[in-house]
Amino acid sequence: MDYSDESQHLEDADAHARAGRWLAAVQVYREVTERKPKDLLLRQKLAEALARAGQTAEAVSVLASIADRLARDGMLLRAITIGKLILEMDPSHTQTQQKVAELYARKHGVPPPPSFFPPRPPPPVPVEDTGESQEVSGVIELLEVAGDIVKDAAHEQSGEGHAELASVPHSPLFADLDEAAFLDVVKTLALRRAAQGKAVLVEGDAGTSMFIIVRGDVVIERARVGAPAQVLHTLGPGAFFGEMALLTHAPRMATVRAKNDVVLLELDEPRLRALMEKHPSMQGVMEGFHRRRMVANLSAVSPIFQAMEPAQRRELLEKFETVVTVPGQLLIEQWQTGDGLYLILRGRCDVTADEDGAAVNLPAMKEGEIFGEVSLIYDTPCTATVKAAGDGVVLRLRREDFRAAIPPNSAAMALIRKLGTERLKRFGMDAVLE
Ligand code: CMP
Repeated sequence: MDYSDESQHLEDADAHARAGRWLAAVQVYREVTERKPKDLLLRQKLAEALARAGQTAEAVSVLASIADRLARDGMLLRAITIGKLILEMDPSHTQTQQKVAELYARKHGVPPPPSFFPPRPPPPVPVEDTGESQEVSGVIELLEVAGDIVKDAAHEQSGEGHAELASVPHSPLFADLDEAAFLDVVKTLALRRAAQGKAVLVEGDAGTSMFIIVRGDVVIERARVGAPAQVLHTLGPGAFFGEMALLTHAPRMATVRAKNDVVLLELDEPRLRALMEKHPSMQGVMEGFHRRRMVANLSAVSPIFQAMEPAQRRELLEKFETVVTVPGQLLIEQWQTGDGLYLILRGRCDVTADEDGAAVNLPAMKEGEIFGEVSLIYDTPCTATVKAAGDGVVLRLRREDFRAAIPPNSAAMALIRKLGTERLKRFGMDAVLE
């Protein structure tokens, strides 16, 4: 192989491209690509030059060949994303996604699936005009996103990629999926992008979809009163987020912000539900992540969870039920027997107590605080009324599960008892302690 000749060719092509001589650039890029068919970056340059030369249909087919290569190399998320970009450029070009799905199926030893996309209409006639119409500039923008993805792939293939990136094609969401589930998922994903610093979803909002990261990183942060937001985690390619609100119907637990420019695949709730029903393995993956993240978040705010071993935390969490609250919702009522131990996961709760016939406001409770313990430990009526101050989420451990879930001589029970005792004393009800 005459490398110096090729690099000279490449320099020529790049020079044409820099000067905006797109048709000339296309010609030389095409020649070099034929000689170096495995070079994805080169193919990407060819696709861009074609698009800028107005030859969108051809640009799309070069991009399709890139997606095909990525899928064959096991980089499924990237291949799917390029397939989606292609669909944005040319909605009739459905065969790339079909191909990705087939390659996945073949890898799993099953026959290719039946086509789930309509047949492709004849390709549009290439346009020779080199001026950039609005349509062309839209295509260029999409090609730039594809370019970033191809650069990541090439970087990884050269062995220089970040070690974590090796897991990109194996998003945990797909890991346990059989081929049928995977095909369903690919069909339903939508491509989304978010610029650096932008919130993809906002804490407290209702959730309507979840996301898988193809490129870039996101920061998971929770707002705190009178303090900067608390960063819970940073997630990178292959990870997913936004599943918690969908699984529990609670508001978004955190704000998810683009740490850099990110490319995402979005799955909306109705489709997610349908997929989970059809493919229980997917439900299992989602619920596993949901539990681990809940435990992490609870450990960040709750002293009781902090006092436990990780295995204990997981076990206890299983026994809590999620209660999504509306403003003013009554949770426990003074003088009544409480129905369980409550832990505030999101939002605040107002506390009032009747003292000599007058309702007295007590300090509101915030995330991580618990209530309902007095009635459980001492078998007394509740000492105060607690209502949700706004939309929020509390966890409830039912009275009948309380003793079995928290061992009497555990550090967590000691904390609960201490809190209960202090509260009883505050109400001058410490007689029950004797
Ligand atoms: P949801 O509550 O729908 O929206 C915010 C998302 O942030 C949430 O779903 C999770 O996907 C994600 N998230 C919340 N807490 C954590 C955590 N501790 N680690 C990783 N991701 C989290």
